[in-house]
Amino acid sequence: MNDPPRVRSGPSPRAKITAPSIVEWKRRGEPVTVVTAYDFPTARLADEAGVEILLVGDSVGTVVLGYESTLPVTMEDILHHTRAVARAKPSALIVADMPFLSYQVSTEEAVRNAGRLIQDGGADAVKLEGGERVADAVRRIVEIGIPVMGHLGLTPQSVLAFGGYKVQARGEADQERLVREAKVLQECGCFAIVLEGIPARLGAAGSRELTVPTIGIGAGLQCDGQVLVSHDLLGLYLGRPPKFVRRYADLAATTREAFERYVADVKARRFPSERESY
Ligand code: KIV
Repeated sequence: MNDPPRVRSGPSPRAKITAPSIVEWKRRGEPVTVVTAYDFPTARLADEAGVEILLVGDSVGTVVLGYESTLPVTMEDILHHTRAVARAKPSALIVADMPFLSYQVSTEEAVRNAGRLIQDGGADAVKLEGGERVADAVRRIVEIGIPVMGHLGLTPQSVLAFGGYKVQARGEADQERLVREAKVLQECGCFAIVLEGIPARLGAAGSRELTVPTIGIGAGLQCDGQVLVSHDLLGLYLGRPPKFVRRYADLAATTREAFERYVADVKARRFPSERESY
């Protein structure tokens, strides 16, 4: 049997990061760092590395669960992974993604599901996709005291309507609409807004127009923060990563090679050694 996980025993040395503190960083010009996390060790490691927001994204569906899109991801999936992240007790803010159909059917359902992610999942905030069409839900969720992160541009839950994962808002009318919708989300109380898959110039314009931080993913350098899917960043995603991804490690190769060496050692009866036996 393995030893229990070697985790830091004491409290995290950073103070807990809150939604209002993230808004304050925009005033100070401090960039916000966000990665996705779906499990205990990733949450612990990212928190220790200084990441400020851990997003339990519905991207868990594509990078962990093997789905072709985020559409099959359920509330139970997000709750399960949010609990694992929360057990790491990170000082980073935990944002749980609201999955497809958990907030679009009615405002009541949206509020109840957001509440479950906080109460049963241990999240500190929730994220949902869309602009004007989700304004009522955002307003009500914020009213009951739950911080909400918005998400505009290439919103993956709309992949069927978009006809694929295509850069959004290339035309002038769509760009004006995106900035208008970002302002609506800000007025409804969002503490930050993810801008995904849009021209860098629009990411910059949106960031200038808003008082809450924009968190870019494929939205250029001028966003107030950046988010990457951790499997993309770590080189663990087995598909072709999008153009905006910068890979900081090649964990797929490292993992495959470790498994190969283990297989070779077992086949050659080199494992376990005497030191590894009782
Ligand atoms: O689910 C997710 O990982 C996301 C990010 C891409 C922003 O929504």
